Amino acid sequence: MSDINKFSEEFFGTEPHVVMMQRSRDLWELLRDNPIYSNYGRMLSIVGSQGDDDAERLASLVRLTGAGSFHYYPADKADALVAKLNDMGLSAGRWEKQWGGEDAYEAAKTIIANASLPPDLKVVRLSADTDADLVRETAQLSMDCGVMPTPGLSMRGLTYKGICLAAVDATGRPVATASSYKNMHPDSMYADHGFWGALATHPDRRGEKIIGVLGAMALAHMWEEHGVRGFFTAVKKGNTGSMAVCAKQAVLPTEWTAVAATDPNHFGDTALTK
Ligand SMILES: CC(C)(COP(=O)(O)OP(=O)(O)OC[C@H]1O[C@@H](n2cnc3c(N)ncnc32)[C@H](O)[C@@H]1OP(=O)(O)O)[C@@H](O)C(=O)NCCC(=O)NCCS
Repeated sequence: MSDINKFSEEFFGTEPHVVMMQRSRDLWELLRDNPIYSNYGRMLSIVGSQGDDDAERLASLVRLTGAGSFHYYPADKADALVAKLNDMGLSAGRWEKQWGGEDAYEAAKTIIANASLPPDLKVVRLSADTDADLVRETAQLSMDCGVMPTPGLSMRGLTYKGICLAAVDATGRPVATASSYKNMHPDSMYADHGFWGALATHPDRRGEKIIGVLGAMALAHMWEEHGVRGFFTAVKKGNTGSMAVCAKQAVLPTEWTAVAATDPNHFGDTALTK
């Protein structure tokens, strides 16, 4: 418990991102027992379409905290939802949901068995013992790559069951990071699913197959240690690098999307994440 208190204010990002994550943390205390909601430290999410009032429900989350999203939203309904949210004065968009089950775990094991990281790198699993500087620099790397980091409590694996790995070079600088979190309510129909992703490699270390290995390690850990049996991630159409990395891990396109929205009064022009 003392560790949790120690890191409870470790947030990263622009001020709108930090305020949104703090509000989401507080609202989570009210919503966490309801299986339609999910959280791993960034924005709160609603899992699956809940009916005709999807837009109103998401808009409430967004107006209260600054941002919110749907996981597993049917692709054929996503554009209509995005349009309705935009008409309500919010800034909404869709991401394509990629998903992998046992094939993803098998692919991860194959990658780990056949590939290795460049010899100057070591893998650090962030935890309560990790120096605050390394956690901050790992979050900064994510942000520099356009990826929204989670709060320190999540990155250190102290709240939601999860893992954040950093590949650290000989000077102690993190050059790549990958994460996975088990973020569904135990009574959800997706209880044993989890988020996998937040992948980022420093531009001058791309193409060395670092994220392939790191992503595989994170995925295998969650399968083996936390019983995750379905891994999802969300990718913007046209993000070919991310799509390619997902395909290597057998995390493949689906008929689901993620729909996320921000409140322009809170976020202005700041992008939420890649
Ligand atoms: C996407 C990203 C993490 C890839 O990192 P990386 O360390 O260069 O990736 P790897 O070298 O491990 O590549 C893994 C595989 O994906 C392929 N790949 C990587 N980037 C690619 C691209 N832009 N286009 C096509 N294929 C690509 C590689 O060729 C490799 O396949 P191979 O094993 O058959 O050669 C990196 O480009 C990045 O940080 N992008 C910005 C942030 C982002 O978009 N993150 C994803 C959102 S969660």
